[in-house]
Amino acid sequence: MKPAARRLPAWAMLGVLCWLAQPAPVIAAEALDQAAMASGFQALESACFSCHSPDATPADRIAPPMAAIRHRYLMDNPSLGAFRGALVGFVNDPSAANARMPGAVKRFGVMPALSLDDATLGDVAYYLYHTPLDAPGWAADGYARDKARYAASARGPVTEDEYRRYGQQLAMQTKTALGSNLKKALKEGGPEHAVSFCNTQAEPIADDMSAKLDAAIGRVSDRPRNPANAADDVELAIIRDFKAVLAAGEKPEAALRERGEQVVGYYPIVTNGMCLQCHGEAGTQVSPATLALIERLYPEDKATGYGVNELRGLFVVGMHRTESED
Ligand code: HEC
Ligand code: HEC
Repeated sequence: MKPAARRLPAWAMLGVLCWLAQPAPVIAAEALDQAAMASGFQALESACFSCHSPDATPADRIAPPMAAIRHRYLMDNPSLGAFRGALVGFVNDPSAANARMPGAVKRFGVMPALSLDDATLGDVAYYLYHTPLDAPGWAADGYARDKARYAASARGPVTEDEYRRYGQQLAMQTKTALGSNLKKALKEGGPEHAVSFCNTQAEPIADDMSAKLDAAIGRVSDRPRNPANAADDVELAIIRDFKAVLAAGEKPEAALRERGEQVVGYYPIVTNGMCLQCHGEAGTQVSPATLALIERLYPEDKATGYGVNELRGLFVVGMHRTESED
């Protein structure tokens, strides 16, 4: 380990002090709801830690460590119910006005909205509440122990619901890999640099994740930027359904279809404010310089003119069918 990583940053010092001063709500592991702990940990691994890394060095951070967030949220919300309410409330609707960590908003920008259901987010809150991430040594030891303890079960998905949730995890993992890299590229060189990044890296990252997760993961749209991402008829029908659900002010759920030997999950990709600098109104939200670059790389681009909270496309996750054992 590099020596710089040993020096404790200010938030960790604060964490250590308060952890010593005030008993954290730690309960013996056996007394906890193990299903909720496992589901919460898996959701953190697939949807949160790519940005809120437990072990990133201060220079590599693109978001505050989850330990700092836990610490901050416990200060105002000492009971599990209040802690869960505050966390779920923010993740469902991240905004500067909702944020309790103005310093983090200033340094990293507001967190992008994620689409997780409230039950899963409740499990995330349950895990965080009961796990002393901000205690000294957790990033080194506790994290590895929980990876072993709460890793996804070896048996693959069997029921429709399990496929739906498993595919969602794979989609979230790909989304966070794309999202965190995109955020890094934006921070490094603004939208134009990031357009080149998407142009050359979006597909390799999705392919990488497909190989790593042993599934076929891609993104499609009814208004594609890259013509290779055009939705087919099955996907277009699902997009229509999801749009109707969104228009009614609700969250679209996953759709599941059979495709040859695969079970395929379709998950909505919804726009947030960050997307508009490349998918918003051409010439204003998408700056003239960015637009010129997009038009050069994608002469048939159909992916501008979006507002926030609109359906931009789908994650398509093809999963192998799990052999049943009987
Ligand atoms: C693409 C990167 C990214 C992902 C993925 C992500 N976050 Fe964040 N999050 C951020 C950034 C950046 C901030 C700091 C700015 C802010 O507070 O909005 C943040 C802040 C937060 C905060 C504190 C907000 C405040 O200021 O009060 C909470 C709580 C949080 N994240 C929870 C989560 C949870 C739970 C997940 C996984 C379900 C998650 N985040 C996934 C980037 C991300
Ligand atoms: C820096 C510019 C930029 C930002 C910001 C950006 N995108 Fe894109 N997006 C692109 C480019 C370029 C492509 C084409 C990638 C390729 O060639 O595969 C793309 C492609 C996509 C696709 C694949 C379908 C298609 O049209 O080719 C989806 C879905 C998508 N973006 C959604 C989003 C969402 C949601 C956000 C916000 C969270 C976002 N994008 C933010 C530039 C951007």
